Amino acid sequence: MRISELEDKLKRDASLPMLPQVVVKVQKVVAKDDSSAKDLANVILSDPSLTSRLLKLVNSAFYAASRQKVTRVTQAIVVLGFEKVRNLALALSSYKILKNLSGGKILKEFWLHSLSTAVASQALAQVHRRTPPEEAFVAGLLHDVGKLILAHYDETAYRRVVDEVIGGKSYIEAEKEIFQIDHRDAGLALAKTWRFPPLIETAIRYHHDLAKGSLRGEELDIMGVVGVANLIAKNLYGRHAERRKHPVEQIVQVAEELLGLTQVDVDNIAGKIGEMVDQVAESLGISIAELKRFAEKGYDKAMLSDDDTAMIEMDQELNLERRRLRAMYEISSMLTQDLPIQDFLRQVLVQICEAFEFERAFLATVSQKERMIKGTAAHGPQASEICAKIQAPLEEDAGLIALTALKDRAFNVLDIFNTDLPILKDERIEMLFGTKNLVTLPVHVGQAVVAVLILNNCQRTTLITEKDVEALKTVANQMGFAIEKASLKKKA
Ligand SMILES: [Fe+2]
Ligand SMILES: [Fe+2]
Repeated sequence: MRISELEDKLKRDASLPMLPQVVVKVQKVVAKDDSSAKDLANVILSDPSLTSRLLKLVNSAFYAASRQKVTRVTQAIVVLGFEKVRNLALALSSYKILKNLSGGKILKEFWLHSLSTAVASQALAQVHRRTPPEEAFVAGLLHDVGKLILAHYDETAYRRVVDEVIGGKSYIEAEKEIFQIDHRDAGLALAKTWRFPPLIETAIRYHHDLAKGSLRGEELDIMGVVGVANLIAKNLYGRHAERRKHPVEQIVQVAEELLGLTQVDVDNIAGKIGEMVDQVAESLGISIAELKRFAEKGYDKAMLSDDDTAMIEMDQELNLERRRLRAMYEISSMLTQDLPIQDFLRQVLVQICEAFEFERAFLATVSQKERMIKGTAAHGPQASEICAKIQAPLEEDAGLIALTALKDRAFNVLDIFNTDLPILKDERIEMLFGTKNLVTLPVHVGQAVVAVLILNNCQRTTLITEKDVEALKTVANQMGFAIEKASLKKKA
């Protein structure tokens, strides 16, 4: 699709009406120097549904604009000011139109991401003090609106985009591949058609750039605010692949560079988002609570179906199952490919992290001759540094990893309180891995334990079930099989 084609479509599409006249009028009144609160109120009052939604939002816990209840539009304008009311009218009207677009199951994720970016933008603007917070809110709410437009015109194709994103591509890459244009282009086309204020256009255009570039002044401010908010939102509620791409350290660095904020600022803001998202969602009438709960746990489902919790749970389980099956299949097919053994083992670690939602995975090799155990392969953030420190004598009191090899059994340290093994309370584990949340499994060649698979569970909030451990044992067996094959080949 070419951008001009999309612009044409937007103009002719009856399912995507022009932004209501009332918002256009609101924009005009705000732009005129001599208009009064009453002029603005009259325009808003001409649209009863906008009036009631505006009052609801102003009185919501999120805005809590005034201690007393705001019951009249003029009062809202006095309490909030012209600009804020204009921005809220814009947000509410565009939301009203956009939420009815087709785009199906993609929509919920879209709104969760957009709302969390909106509240994060507003919170960042409050700390940064250079962008009006309400403007930041609207810019955050609409920054990815192009995704919705693309999904609206070809939902099936957009599902493929989402699949590619789950597979590790960025939205921009996947959209360009499938649609030839990306959501920034599509968003800008809508912004033009709907005559969004210039700063919102800037946010749509530059929220992925995250470098000062040629932007200056308020344009640079809004880009920074929405760009950082976007990263925070992805980190909180994004899919697995997205979260991995935007670790906290990166977000803090960008926030420092673009907005001069500190880690503490970012932490404070990120900590408040969840509650604020609930409040805004409630006042806009969006039901994303279920999705949010799953996202918080780190979901990575292909698609969400509807409000039904059971459906969502089932979906989640099925998808996890599917991913695991796929990982098993990948590993089996790699076994037949004759990869160099180190490459094979590293690939397996990657597959395990993906399919079982571990943050890091390691392999420690057992040397019976030297009676030592040593880290030899790793995957995940900072995994190689940690791996270099995995080293222990093959003795029972040398810690969990040595014990896994000696006892020849798997440990799931998450159930630390159910076990009477003192070694599981080992402080060294926590120092090395940053968590006690580990799963360790022996890797065999014949009867002998030749290595220990160590899975670091930092990010995971759900329990590792017995079923997971059983599946992981199969993977460990495949690793053992590959090691055996490689050593036979070496001898031959
Ligand atoms: Fe985006
Ligand atoms: Fe985004």
